[in-house]
This record gives sequence, structure tokens and C-alpha cells, in this order.
Amino acid sequence: MKNHVLRPLWLAIAVVAAVLIAREFLVPEDFGVHGDSFTYNFYRLGNVQEWKDFQVKYQGRERCARCHEEQSENNAASMHAIIQCENCHGPGVDHPKKIKKLLIDGSRELCLRCHQKLAYPSSQRSALPGIDGETHKKKKECRKCHDPHLPDLEDA
Ligand code: HEC
Ligand code: HEC
Ligand code: HEC
Ligand code: HEC
Repeated sequence: MKNHVLRPLWLAIAVVAAVLIAREFLVPEDFGVHGDSFTYNFYRLGNVQEWKDFQVKYQGRERCARCHEEQSENNAASMHAIIQCENCHGPGVDHPKKIKKLLIDGSRELCLRCHQKLAYPSSQRSALPGIDGETHKKKKECRKCHDPHLPDLEDA
């Protein structure tokens, strides 16, 4: 065979060999097919435990209810029943053990995050009652008129 055919051939073989050798060193030992089907079982086995050990940040409202009965009952009976306490109070992991109190945010921004009326809302967002933060009872904190745990326009 001529040189100009052989040279790229050797080069291709060298590249394939280099990849195979590198793979031998780089791929973790527990990476492979774990289970009977290739489709979902091609992964690193140790990764399962790593995710189990991953610390979650949120408790969920069922846990809050054990100690904060009043807010939880109100919240469950209100239009805010579908949103989580931690949406407004921040992640509750380690509360109350290590973190004595969770954040109480009285800012207009907290509420406007969901209630600012958007010019071009998605269909889901337009189902959420919106107000214009620039004009609606300007500068006053929302909680002065709306109970965050029991928002009801009758009382506003
Ligand atoms: C095991 C009981 C317990 C659980 C569960 C718990 N809390 Fe608390 N929480 C407390 C205690 C105790 C305090 C301090 C009360 C105080 O000093 O008035 C507190 C304080 C707070 C405060 C501050 C109150 C203030 O007046 O400053 C907020 C807000 C709060 N918790 C929200 C939550 C939320 C949201 C959850 C769920 C993610 C939650 N808590 C879960 C017991 C609990
Ligand atoms: C829409 C945002 C929002 C949600 C959702 C929410 N909170 Fe609050 N929370 C507030 C605000 C704002 C205050 C301060 C109220 C005030 O100053 O009148 C507050 C106050 C509190 C306090 C202090 C005592 C009080 O009533 O003022 C506790 C405890 C508390 N929330 C627990 C909870 C728990 C438990 C849930 C879930 C069941 C929850 N919150 C859901 C915004 C929220
Ligand atoms: C995570 C998103 C979210 C946040 C943050 C939030 N809300 Fe809401 N709010 C909702 C949803 C969802 C509804 C119920 C919409 C429905 O069912 O039509 C609602 C309903 C309301 C209503 C009832 C409106 C009516 O038509 O009767 C008021 C008032 C209200 N919220 C005030 C507040 C205030 C004040 C705050 C801040 C303390 C706040 N919201 C924070 C999502 C949010
Ligand atoms: C001075 C009292 C007051 C303050 C402060 C206030 N509101 Fe209101 N809000 C009302 C009243 C009264 C209504 C019902 C009549 C109206 O739409 O003006 C209302 C209506 C609403 C509605 C229902 C709108 C609709 O079309 O269904 C939402 C949502 C709302 N407010 C959210 C907020 C948020 C978020 C804040 C803070 C950024 C806030 N409000 C501050 C008194 C207040």
C-alpha cells in the first residue's frame, strides 16, 4: 500500500488504542450495566448511595404542622393551600434544632414574586391573581392588609 494510505491508517489505529487505554484508567470500576436491561441500568453503582446521602433542604408542610398548628390550619383552609410554607420562610432543614427561627420576610418583593401582574403571562401564571406592584397600595407591606396564611379579599 502507498504511504498516503498507510499513514492515516496508523494514525487512526493509534487514536483508537489511546482512547481504549485512557478509558481503562478513567472509567470508575463500578460503572457498568447493573440490572437486566441496558436502557436504564447503565450507570455508576456508587452514585445511588451518593444521592441517598445528599442532604435535602426542605421539610415539607406536614412537619411544620406538628409545631405550628395555627398557621398550618389557616394555610390549609386558604387559597395559599397549594403553596408550601418554605416557599415564603425559606428552607427549613435543621429548624428548630440548629436554626432556632426561620426567616420572616415582610417585603413586598416576596409576594410580588408570584403576584406581580405580567404583561405576557404563561397560561398557568395568568390563573394566579395579579396586581401591579407599582400602583397597588404603594409602599405598604402586603401583610398590613392581607394575612399571608389566610389571604382573603373579604378581610383586605
Ligand atoms: C419541632 C417543632 C418545630 C417544627 C417541626 C417547625 N418549627 Fe418553626 N419554630 C419552632 C420553635 C420552637 C420556634 C421558636 C418559637 C419562638 O421563639 O416564638 C419556631 C419558630 C419559627 C418561625 C419564626 C417565628 C417568629 O416569631 O419569629 C417561623 C417563621 C417558623 N418557625 C416556621 C416554620 C416552618 C415553615 C416549618 C416547617 C418547614 C417549621 N417552622 C417547623 C418549632 C418548630
Ligand atoms: C405567602 C407566604 C407565606 C406562607 C405560604 C407561609 N407564611 Fe408564615 N409568615 C409569612 C409572613 C409574611 C409572616 C409575618 C406575618 C405578620 O407579620 O403578620 C409569617 C409569620 C409566620 C410565623 C410567626 C407567627 C405569626 O403568625 O406571625 C410562623 C410561626 C409561620 N409564619 C409559620 C408558617 C407555616 C407553618 C406555614 C405553612 C403552613 C407558613 N408560615 C406559610 C409568610 C408566609
Ligand atoms: C409561591 C407563590 C405565591 C406567593 C409567594 C404568594 N402567593 Fe398569594 N396566592 C398564590 C396562589 C397560587 C393563590 C391562589 C390562586 C387561586 O387559587 O386562584 C394566591 C392567592 C392570594 C390572594 C387571594 C386573591 C383573591 O382573589 O382572593 C391574596 C390576597 C394573596 N395571595 C396575597 C399574597 C400575599 C400578601 C403574599 C405575600 C405575603 C403572597 N400572596 C405570596 C401564590 C402565591
Ligand atoms: C392598604 C391595604 C393593602 C395593601 C398594603 C395591599 N393590598 Fe392587596 N388588596 C387590598 C384590597 C382592599 C384589595 C381588593 C380590592 C382591590 O383590588 O383593590 C386587594 C386585592 C389584592 C389582590 C387580588 C387582585 C385580584 O384582582 O383578584 C391581590 C392578589 C393582592 N391584593 C395582593 C397584594 C400584594 C402582593 C400586596 C403587596 C405587594 C398587597 N396586595 C398590598 C388591600 C391591600
